[in-house]
Amino acid sequence: MRVALASSSAAETEGIAARLAGWLVSGDVVAVSGELGSGKTTFVRGACRELGVSSPVTSPTFTIGHRYRGLPDVSHLDLYRFSGVSPAEWGDLEPYFENAIVFVEWPEAGRDVLPPPRASVLLQHAGGDSRRILLTADDAALLEGIT
Ligand SMILES: Nc1ncnc2c1ncn2[C@@H]1O[C@H](COP(=O)(O)OP(=O)(O)OP(=O)(O)O)[C@@H](O)[C@H]1O
Ligand SMILES: [Mg+2]
Repeated sequence: MRVALASSSAAETEGIAARLAGWLVSGDVVAVSGELGSGKTTFVRGACRELGVSSPVTSPTFTIGHRYRGLPDVSHLDLYRFSGVSPAEWGDLEPYFENAIVFVEWPEAGRDVLPPPRASVLLQHAGGDSRRILLTADDAALLEGIT
C-alpha cells in the first residue's frame, strides 16, 4: 500500500514522521530516500522526538550512523558514501539493528544486506518548502494509522 502526503514545512514533515513512529516497534527498519536536502534527516528527527530521543539528531553523513537512547533506541544510518555494503561492513552495521528502530538514509546501497523495511519513505521537492512524502508499506494498517 502507498499513500502520498503533502508537507509545507520542516515542522510538518517532523509531525508526519512522528505519526509513523508511533506505530513502529523495536526491530523495524524504515528506508528514507530522496534527493539532497529533501528532508530525510528532518523526517528522522521527527520520529526520534516521538520515540523519546532528547539529544540532537544530526546527519550522520560523515559517520556510518548514530544510535540514540529512546523508547526504544533509535538508530540512524546514512549510506550516502556507500555503493554497496560488503559482509565486513555489514558486521560494523549490525549492532545498530539490535533492539532498536532503524532509519536508513540512502538505503539503495544496502539493498543486498538490509533487512526488509517495514515502511519506505520517499521525499520529493515540490517547490520552496513544499515536499511530497510517499509512504509505502505492505502492512496497510500501518499507513491507515497515520493518514
Ligand atoms: N517541508 C519540509 N520538509 C522537510 N524539510 C524542509 C521542509 N521545508 C524546508 N525544509 C528544510 O530543508 C532542509 C532539509 O534538510 P535535511 O538535512 O533534512 O535533508 P536530507 O534529505 O537529510 O539531506 P541530505 O541528502 O544532505 O542528507 C532543512 O534545512 C529543512 O529545514
Ligand atoms: Mg540527511
